[in-house]
Amino acid sequence: MNLLGGKKILLGISGGIAAYKTPILVRALVQQGAVVKVVMTPSAMDFVTPLTLSTLSKNPVLSSFTAEDHDNPTWNDHVALGQWADVLLIAPATSNTLSSMVHGSCNNLLLAVYLSAKSPVFLAPAMDLDMYAHPSNQNNLETLKAYGNHVLPVGEGFLASGLEGKGRMLEPDQIVSHLVSFFNPELELKGKKVLITAGPTYEAIDPVRYIGNHASGKMGYALAEVALKKGAEVILISGPSSQKINHPSLELIRITSADEMAEAVKKYYDGVDIAIAAAAVADFKPKTIAFHKLKKQNGLEKVELTPTTDVLADMGRSKKNQLLIGFALETENELENAKSKLVKKNLDGIVLNSLNDSKAGFTVNTNKITFIHKDQKTRSFPLQSKLECAHRIFEQILTL
Ligand code: CTP
Repeated sequence: MNLLGGKKILLGISGGIAAYKTPILVRALVQQGAVVKVVMTPSAMDFVTPLTLSTLSKNPVLSSFTAEDHDNPTWNDHVALGQWADVLLIAPATSNTLSSMVHGSCNNLLLAVYLSAKSPVFLAPAMDLDMYAHPSNQNNLETLKAYGNHVLPVGEGFLASGLEGKGRMLEPDQIVSHLVSFFNPELELKGKKVLITAGPTYEAIDPVRYIGNHASGKMGYALAEVALKKGAEVILISGPSSQKINHPSLELIRITSADEMAEAVKKYYDGVDIAIAAAAVADFKPKTIAFHKLKKQNGLEKVELTPTTDVLADMGRSKKNQLLIGFALETENELENAKSKLVKKNLDGIVLNSLNDSKAGFTVNTNKITFIHKDQKTRSFPLQSKLECAHRIFEQILTL
């Protein structure tokens, strides 16, 4: 995709360990069609070399006020750089750089560019968890937001200090996704058709009773909401759910059983670009459905079961150009089981959610997910709302 086509991104790198990820960031921006120039603080050069960045950006990398030619020094024009950019992105933004930005300090080229920039400014903070939580940093971030800067969230997880918590710089693909959303507020999926399965299925025993599960449909409906926001046409094939959604670009197909879901998917699957199976489809159904309500005086010793169609596996078998994403709900050997489903069902990605976290799973509004790519690269996210999870899932899909 070319979602940043021709956009001029001035990347400012300050000196923190997360700077080692900036070559990947530059490459990801360039892959989306952006023109990238890089300004580094002197200490950033301890973490990543200008040569790497100039090779990937295909532009000279600047770090001082003057070009280093002693006989004929020339001025690196911070004003022109600030005015050239459509966006100034400072990643990583260290505690020191954030503090200097708050106070208007100007002791390096990056800070001078920031003070001269006319463009929107995005900041991707990166620091250790205690530094990030410190009131002085939190106040600085609030002040910088009040100045009109876009402060990106931080990631949570393993930190260079060996501690775990909030403070990691967002991953390059997430930073790119924020910029894509900024430049194309609703259009990342414009012209794309997305099929989503959601909710439980009910497998009838008789006209009154069924075998079902606790799925609410919340995750699938959140995915539909995000896809619609991003401009997609959405076909939502939903089992029984109390969730509500309404949008001109939405086709909502209500089904009850796994067989009905399989049939509906078959009808639409060929014409879609992305298919996401978020439904908790019953794996077994009664072999026969009693025509009349089973009466208890006749006794009910057993209900004979037979497997349902694996809707997702069918999609995997008949896949042409679609991106196919599944879900895996696991309670043990989670990663291993999810990876094996990814391969077995011929998927491009799988979202693992574990029932081992009390705030993740069926009926709650939050979820804790790990996205596993086809190449086995995994991205884990902290507990967040299902709507936020849906955003994270599309961020990952858009990198595919
Ligand atoms: N799925 C499906 N049709 C089925 C069963 C599952 O489309 N009959 C899809 C789900 O929507 C999900 C994925 O397959 O995207 C994995 O579902 P899950 O219940 O985790 O695994 P199963 O394949 O059913 O295997 P198991 O229950 O043994 O873990």
